[in-house]
Amino acid sequence: MTSGASPSPAAASPAAASPARSQARFLRALRREPVDATPVWFMRQAGRALPEYRAVRERATLLEITRDPALCAEVTLQPVRRLGVDAAILFADITTPLAGMGVAFDIVEGRGPVIEHPVRTSADVAALRPFEPEVAVAPLLEAIGLIRGASPVPLIGFAGAPFTLACYLVEGGPSRDFPRTKALMHAEPETWAALLDHLVGATIAYLRAQAAAGAEAVQVFDSWVGGLSPLDYERRVWPHMRRLFDGIADLGVPSIHFGVATAGILALQASAGGDAIGLDWRIALSHGRHLVGDRAVQGNLDPTLLLGPWEGTEEAARWVLEENDRRPGHVFNLGHGVLPGTDPDHLRRLVELVHDHGASR
Ligand code: CP3
Repeated sequence: MTSGASPSPAAASPAAASPARSQARFLRALRREPVDATPVWFMRQAGRALPEYRAVRERATLLEITRDPALCAEVTLQPVRRLGVDAAILFADITTPLAGMGVAFDIVEGRGPVIEHPVRTSADVAALRPFEPEVAVAPLLEAIGLIRGASPVPLIGFAGAPFTLACYLVEGGPSRDFPRTKALMHAEPETWAALLDHLVGATIAYLRAQAAAGAEAVQVFDSWVGGLSPLDYERRVWPHMRRLFDGIADLGVPSIHFGVATAGILALQASAGGDAIGLDWRIALSHGRHLVGDRAVQGNLDPTLLLGPWEGTEEAARWVLEENDRRPGHVFNLGHGVLPGTDPDHLRRLVELVHDHGASR
């Protein structure tokens, strides 16, 4: 397995300063340049499936890992070593920056992030503190430098998108239908706009700090945006996403714009920004490509396949590759994150299958 990137002696410097690394097949695919093999990585590749991750978790919680640069770097690199993926993704949660905005929360085992005092009024929004990455997430930024020095493949920085972060802030925890979030959006559009505005500013600052520390690409996770009608997306979310992507456009690192169940809003999402658009498994990749136009795409295998027999994964992975038809600008991924209980050997075989499929046109 080759990564397409040679380890760079200037590994601690920002991405743009390092020409060899910029030729990695993951970054070439995001720029829609030809590749020797389709690059592949997996959302949620670091936690969940790996025994070496579970061993770390016996002595440290998620929050502790993200506050310990060496441990955070170690966990980020575990899937690179075991699976042979073409990119590393910084180990953190989308809620990690919230503490720096004055929001107290906990990650509850088996449930997810729980916010102590949900944000539901204009006074709650006004009380959010400006986000200063160098103060709020210094250990994470230090981890990025360590990962850059040790990783043979590019490092992806990431942030939750304002809508998806707002879902947690307003509901107070995980939710299926986001009723309070949508109620706020419709009943108090000005409060909603102020909340998203604050989150956009924070997210721009957070992603800029990650790129300055050495992240070579960034992904914006708008995981729950597929719950919105195209009308609400266009009116209540799109302008904020546009401002977000405008705010990182000069960074010189490519961006990936991801959501789940987004078949109905893909063209709108693409028009808000992102060098690559994430596709989930509910849409054929060729159809998704058609909707997003001249962008790279990332996806889009159903992650539940990996819980079943290998043959099911193999068949669907070949279908995804055939749907792409060797066009440049495809990063292979799952349509959403690796599920708990996934066999790491299936992930490793999937990486091999994608690489063995060969070059783009
Ligand atoms: O899955 C996605 O949609 C990606 C975006 C996202 C992350 N966290 C990124 C992440 C979302 C929506 C979350 C929220 C969250 N945080 C949940 C989901 C709750 C819900 O609403 O259904 C949960 C369970 C958490 C807590 C959490 N985050 C844990 C326990 C861990 C450790 C590892 C694991 O997966 O169990 C995380 C890590 C995490 N969250 C990562 C990322 C990108 C780093 C791991 C990786 O991607 O490799």
